[in-house]
Amino acid sequence: MKDIVDQLEEKRQRARLGGGQARIDRQHERGKLTARERIELLLDENSFEEWDAFVEHRCTDFGMEDNKVLGDGVVTGYGTINGRMVFVFSQDFTVFGGSLSEAHAEKICKILDQAMKVGAPVIGLNDSGGARIQEGVVSLGGYAEVFQRNVLASGVIPQISVIMGPCAGGAVYSPAMTDFIFMVRDSSYMFVTGPDVVKTVTHEVITAEELGGAKTHSTVSGVCDCAYDNDVETLAMVRRFVNYLPSNNREKPPYRPTPDAPGRVEMSLDTLIPDSPTKPYDMKEAIYKIVDDAEFWELQPDHARNIVIGLARMDGHPVGVVANQPLVQAGCLDIESSIKAGRFVRFCDAFNIPILTFVDVPGFMPGSAQEYGGIIKHGAKLLFAYAEATVPKITVITRKAYGGAYDVMSSKHLRGDVNLAWPSAEIAVMGPKGAVEIIFRGDIGDEDKIAERTEEYRQKFANPFIAASRGYIDDVIAPHATRKRICRSLAMLRDKRLENPWRKHDNIPL
Ligand code: HXC
Repeated sequence: MKDIVDQLEEKRQRARLGGGQARIDRQHERGKLTARERIELLLDENSFEEWDAFVEHRCTDFGMEDNKVLGDGVVTGYGTINGRMVFVFSQDFTVFGGSLSEAHAEKICKILDQAMKVGAPVIGLNDSGGARIQEGVVSLGGYAEVFQRNVLASGVIPQISVIMGPCAGGAVYSPAMTDFIFMVRDSSYMFVTGPDVVKTVTHEVITAEELGGAKTHSTVSGVCDCAYDNDVETLAMVRRFVNYLPSNNREKPPYRPTPDAPGRVEMSLDTLIPDSPTKPYDMKEAIYKIVDDAEFWELQPDHARNIVIGLARMDGHPVGVVANQPLVQAGCLDIESSIKAGRFVRFCDAFNIPILTFVDVPGFMPGSAQEYGGIIKHGAKLLFAYAEATVPKITVITRKAYGGAYDVMSSKHLRGDVNLAWPSAEIAVMGPKGAVEIIFRGDIGDEDKIAERTEEYRQKFANPFIAASRGYIDDVIAPHATRKRICRSLAMLRDKRLENPWRKHDNIPL
């Protein structure tokens, strides 16, 4: 018996070495950790239970029958993060460049299936050269098996992708269909076609980093939700991030006690809004001052900055925050910001996370670029997402809520549960100047008359009281009391029940 146990241990040791010491050293030289080192940092100490360490590929072409590595380039299993169960796969770049074979895909599918059965999140650590070239279509089939499971798991268990090396070709579509993508700066990249193909087809010369590095995806494309400097920091942040999420769609997100009193007043909010309606201010200041412990986990902070999205807690309970940002393009809604916020609202709704919306929006961005780009369809995504959401929805209008954007931003009419406004709120079809130039077109040229009409319009409409008189606003509140009012509203809404009519699925304007 002892011999067999020794043999087992020897085999395990071999599996742990992956593609061998030389390749491990190369991985380290590039500032990257190995698949197993990453899992160790991600999970609670000694909590990892590995599965399928002895799986091997079944390829017999190109001399592959003599080239087998235990585990076949991916480490899979489950463990805990702060005591809560998660499933994990970690691609091992030292084994055939982390490329995906049939067996490799089966290992990933196995943990996705098991995570669905027990209702636990899946975290994928991606570091792969893509489809295992020697296996051909079998490898493509493996990818599709993973994709299918990603889709069925969407909205059932949280799925987080961490890109820690190459992720190219069709391989990008598994992360793309998960809920969040974290990237490591300078050592990870994602693209559908790499620089060589780009050069051949379009003659464009571009580096991998420019084409699909963390900076590109955090700023231009919005593919990346969070980017960090190295493997260690990224994994530490994923551990913290998971604390905001429920384990599955039947659970509420985890409560974390806080010393921050729900009734805390924040007097400085009373002077946040500038005297001039055209002057910007930082909406994030309001968010930080209102949420628990000034802790706000912003997602996609450098993409579509005219809208702010992220997770925070109120009286210990996670909330999703969506806020127009007057500092950037006056906080208007455009294609990118609608897509960014729409997807986030749907994530929150799928996972029972109440949505807290701060509104200061002058309207949709005008112009041919927006119209040609399909703002009609993309703006509708955000409207659709808010309208279908059944989680508690609390809205605070801090200043402008004009036109269609008023309707879109979690208005009462879209089943907003609690809609509050600061006294500085201006709720109207449009701003005073634009309105007067349309309804008093005949007076244009007569400066005094226009000024008088504008002032009249401002007095009448640039306030929250007409909306409040209709019940579209539940209350006009002092800014300093915002945290208290939100915490009370959330407590009232804790057991909210609302269901949409049965259907196979909706038809959100994609
Ligand atoms: C098999 C692969 C591989 C692959 C890399 N390797 N990619 N083996 N299939 N796809 C192996 C290499 O042979 C090498 O083996 C080791 O991994 C490390 O690769 P290097 O090239 O030495 O590393 P590096 O210089 O860092 O370059 C990494 C790389 C490059 C940029 C990822 O390897 C590369 O371009 N690979 C091919 C990428 C690709 O075209 N994949 C298919 C994409 S299409 P040794 O033994 O020397 O260590 C796709 C379709 C998916 O994925 C479809 C889903 C719908």
